[in-house]
Amino acid sequence: MLDYGGINVEKLIITGPTPLKGEVNISGAKNAAVAILPATLLINGFCRIENLPNISDVKLYCQILELLGAKVTWHTPNDITVDTTNINNKADIYEITRKFRASYYLIGALLGRCGEVQVGLPGGCNLGARPIDLHIKGFEALGATTSIIQGNIKAVANKLVGTSIYLDIASVGATINIMLASVLAEGTTIIDNAAKEPHIVDVANFLNTMGADIRGAGTDVIKIHGVKELKGNSSYSIVPDQIEAGTFMLAAIATRGDIVIKNCITKHLESVTAKIIEIGGNVDANGDKLRVWYDKRPSKATIKTLPYPGFPTDLQPQMGVVLSTADGTSIINEGIWESRFQYTNELNKMGARITAQGKSAFFEGVDFLVGAPVYVTDLRAGAALIIAGISAEGVTEVYNLEHIDRGYENIEEKFRKIGANIKRVVE
Ligand code: EPU
Repeated sequence: MLDYGGINVEKLIITGPTPLKGEVNISGAKNAAVAILPATLLINGFCRIENLPNISDVKLYCQILELLGAKVTWHTPNDITVDTTNINNKADIYEITRKFRASYYLIGALLGRCGEVQVGLPGGCNLGARPIDLHIKGFEALGATTSIIQGNIKAVANKLVGTSIYLDIASVGATINIMLASVLAEGTTIIDNAAKEPHIVDVANFLNTMGADIRGAGTDVIKIHGVKELKGNSSYSIVPDQIEAGTFMLAAIATRGDIVIKNCITKHLESVTAKIIEIGGNVDANGDKLRVWYDKRPSKATIKTLPYPGFPTDLQPQMGVVLSTADGTSIINEGIWESRFQYTNELNKMGARITAQGKSAFFEGVDFLVGAPVYVTDLRAGAALIIAGISAEGVTEVYNLEHIDRGYENIEEKFRKIGANIKRVVE
């Protein structure tokens, strides 16, 4: 038993190798949920949100909404009603908002609703520098003044007025945040070089369902015609999680398995499908289902992560596991984040031969991985290490599960149902 000063430490114990077989259901998208929850603050009324993923980031966001005066009613762990008729934008949410990155959406939402907001600066993460200069540029272009006060960011606007905003980088966060700030602004806001990820479309669809007038989400020009009020009084179901579906697709290949992934939007996974086929795997898309299977060693590949519709950075570590045992040497270039190869140190403990240098990593394929104790450094690294454990010979112990619980609903149960020998224990 490890001594962490009396704190109970959870870990996953995985015994492999197991070729995964069976069906898995995909939950609602985490990165849509953490934007839609703050978006409810723009509504003068209530809304119902269905297909909400049951993950710790969502629970934390609901706590923040309650601190701000919203009433959250849980019908099931995946279905809530949020009443945002009365909001107190002066509530003390500084500490809690520092805890996670997606709290930055509160700036756009509360600026739009109340004209003033102060939140803790979003905490760093393990992916390298994560600036929000483009978000701030957008708020200021709409007429807000921003300042940093004792580790908090404050934004104030007497009035927000629509304008044209060009994003130097097609940032997911900046696109959504500017959309949130401009929904109730006067006139039309145009976001040029907007990000096109599926969750951007989902947030726009949610806001439109509640009464907003947003056009072009999913293309690189989004037009937001300001409306006087969002009345809400409607329900919305969150889009299936593209990254969770991709995680199971890559798990099928890494474990030489055969999985049917249900409740996903196959179009969102075309870049992953193309890469799986390129390395020899099989993918059959049928309606909202994807069957992915391969019982052989995949061939090597070269991959660059890019904004949607390119290969997603959030599936890069899971792909790294697949390439660790591919035939030949593969290269991954990380095109979004400065530092997203920390998981490769853990895979090397399991017998992989990966050399990571800056934004590139070289995967010299080995015959098989061997179980070892490994430590999760971020959410997607966590998913990758679970897949590695299921595909490896022997026992893998995975630590630092809080990263995984932030963004994957019932992950070990979902893997267990398709055959993995995986259990969570408290040390
Ligand atoms: N960037 C700037 N300035 C900004 C904003 C972004 O320079 O003001 C840079 C970033 O440093 C990065 C690039 O632009 O190099 C793209 O960042 P983006 O803003 O698109 O990322 P994000 O909104 O912070 C979201 C997801 C991430 C995902 C990225 C890229 C959420 C809550 N997070 O982050 O998800 O990796 O988009 O697709 O939606 C994850 O789910 O594991 C995760 C990290």
